Amino acid sequence: MHFQWYPGHMTKAKRQMQEDIKLIDLVIELVDARIPLSSRNPDIDDLGKQKARLILMNKADLASEEQNKAWAAYFKEKGFFVVKLDARNRAGIKTINEVILDACKEKIERDRRRGIKNRPVRAMVVGIPNVGKSTFINTYAGKACAKTGNKPGVTKGKQWIRLNKNVELLDTPGILWPKFEDQKVGLCLALVGSIKDEILNIDELSLELINILQARYPGLLAQRYGVTEGQKPAEILKEIAGNRKCVKKGNELDYGKAASMVIDEFRSGRLGKITLEFPQE
Ligand code: G4P
Repeated sequence: MHFQWYPGHMTKAKRQMQEDIKLIDLVIELVDARIPLSSRNPDIDDLGKQKARLILMNKADLASEEQNKAWAAYFKEKGFFVVKLDARNRAGIKTINEVILDACKEKIERDRRRGIKNRPVRAMVVGIPNVGKSTFINTYAGKACAKTGNKPGVTKGKQWIRLNKNVELLDTPGILWPKFEDQKVGLCLALVGSIKDEILNIDELSLELINILQARYPGLLAQRYGVTEGQKPAEILKEIAGNRKCVKKGNELDYGKAASMVIDEFRSGRLGKITLEFPQE
């Protein structure tokens, strides 16, 4: 499978990011917990150097808890602050507030030494499309937060959301471009639904997923669909189509329907909590 991301978009997104990043103290980077590396663009490490860094492992509700822990340790080891999150839920917000202050403690201390009191930490949310940036901003900022744009001392045209007395958030997230150099990255992004399905071959995608599930989560396909594992992915898909009565007119098996069902059940979490990439590798 081949995936494409247009260079024009990429240049524009990068330029915007370079401008916005000058205004902030902290980069809040969202990744998809099911594919923590494929959903990152490592260029942000260069763009965001000198800034405090927080990685939110979003959609953690859909990923394996064991792998969530392993990935959190992996990122911490690389010097990031990390929080696992379901952005649709306000439950993690308190932790994030605490971690933000921890991540920015040097800046807060520096301000204090210079006699600057109560200057809030300024942060921006970044991430590739579909990782949950807008969901997070909505949940985190909530309705109650007033926007504080276009006042004296506030950069013209930029809207800031005052979250609490300590934190201000740029209201528009920074869009990072996925990095497609490795086709495996494209596959991971396609599986989690971050590439438009119209341009994908769902049958082929489902076979790739079946392959990964057999290797990494043995027993799961047998349990969910009553199939015999250890066969070629195409044979498994055929069994799934049969067991789930995916048929076309004339009682012929409908592989396309079975393929879409498997992909849908994976994406929605009905297949279980599944991580597709592993930090050990
Ligand atoms: P973006 O701004 O980064 O492009 O992402 P956005 O917030 O639009 O979120 C993309 C999709 O991911 C949305 O689903 C959203 O509900 C879902 N989502 C965001 N965070 C989480 C999370 O932590 N866990 C889970 N399970 N899902 C999350 P959608 O199907 O596009 O929209 P909708 O059906 O929710 O309206």
